[in-house]
Amino acid sequence: MKILVTGGAGFIGSNFVRYILEVHPDYEVVNLDLLTYAGNLENLADLEGRENYRFVRGDIADAGLLDGLFAEGVDGVVNFAAESHVDRSIEDPGHFLATNILGTQALLEAARRYRVNRFLQISTDEVYGSLAGEGAFTEESPLAPNSPYSASKASADLLCRAYWKTYDLPVVVTRCSNNYGPFQFPEKLIPLFITNALADEPLPVYGDGLYVRDWIYVRDHCSALDRVLHDGRPGEIYNVGADAERTNLEITQTILEKLDKDAGLVRHVKDRPGHDRRYAIDSSKIQTELGWRPETPFQDGMADTIDWYLRNEPWWQKIKSGEYREYYERMYRNR
Ligand code: NAD
Ligand code: TYD
Repeated sequence: MKILVTGGAGFIGSNFVRYILEVHPDYEVVNLDLLTYAGNLENLADLEGRENYRFVRGDIADAGLLDGLFAEGVDGVVNFAAESHVDRSIEDPGHFLATNILGTQALLEAARRYRVNRFLQISTDEVYGSLAGEGAFTEESPLAPNSPYSASKASADLLCRAYWKTYDLPVVVTRCSNNYGPFQFPEKLIPLFITNALADEPLPVYGDGLYVRDWIYVRDHCSALDRVLHDGRPGEIYNVGADAERTNLEITQTILEKLDKDAGLVRHVKDRPGHDRRYAIDSSKIQTELGWRPETPFQDGMADTIDWYLRNEPWWQKIKSGEYREYYERMYRNR
């Protein structure tokens, strides 16, 4: 099987490429990635030189480039490529629409013309908006995105639906909860707080810190995607989650405790506009229909993740000393 993975130089994409080549060593993977600020070839340095892995730098919205790649033969597409950070989407939504909506449409169009056997769209629970009270998102929950990021992802999901209904393109959509693990860019909560704490820098908690996210270890997300890629029913949506709801303050406390750092590092800062209060995922459909289960308890995943950032300081120091500094200044200076 030859898979075109897009966005494979980012956090989840790079974990997925490594995972898929580990469990299916005979597969061929082409990784198409634009290498935006979030893409990093160091995330896949260990795969360089492998015969069945190839990296191509380019934009998923580039129809000409896609034409060339699909003409070489592609059995399945796994689309991770996206602008993925909510705060950046609030600052400048345009890139999000260009990649997440128009880019996905260009990819769908190429997949349609070349009749690929499977198109897996990596979506997010954020398309459902915010939960009030008890309960969890199911695949039937209405779409109610609240940020430019989640609105662009919801739009892409609708295009996927349209390509299935109109052209019979065998599209499957997964909607996963918040991921954490190795190689996550340190703009997101967990790696930002781990790396700030290691440097004895403040941990900027938005608002009251009682916002809830449902966390999943990235390898468990990858095993779910492997299952859906092979056995998911075309036209279906599968929620993916690991039943690990935590407030941001609980996450902060776990990190401080594991690193033996002082709670004095915590700073409550101005809240994010349109901040979703709570996400929680009901993943019973993928569990009953496809037999998938998450394997990593939250405590173990967090311990492994913190350990990874401790062992890979050169990786994140390099990121944090580059253009990231400007971003951090811009985002947090007057917060
Ligand atoms: P990321 O920001 O770490 O990586 C995104 C990758 O896409 C980068 O390598 C970037 O260079 C690449 N990219 C961006 N624009 C591109 C373009 N136009 N053409 C080609 N490549 C491009 O993101 P991530 O956290 O790994 O998320 C991957 C996917 O999973 C996204 O679609 C995101 O919406 C979804 N998702 C993420 C989470 C999470 O918690 N991180 C949860 C659920 C779903
Ligand atoms: P984030 O990692 O950006 O993921 P998402 O917004 O896609 O869920 O944020 C996770 C939670 O952490 C969210 O409630 C916002 C909060 N947060 C902070 O409190 N401080 C920060 O500096 C960041 C980046 C996030």
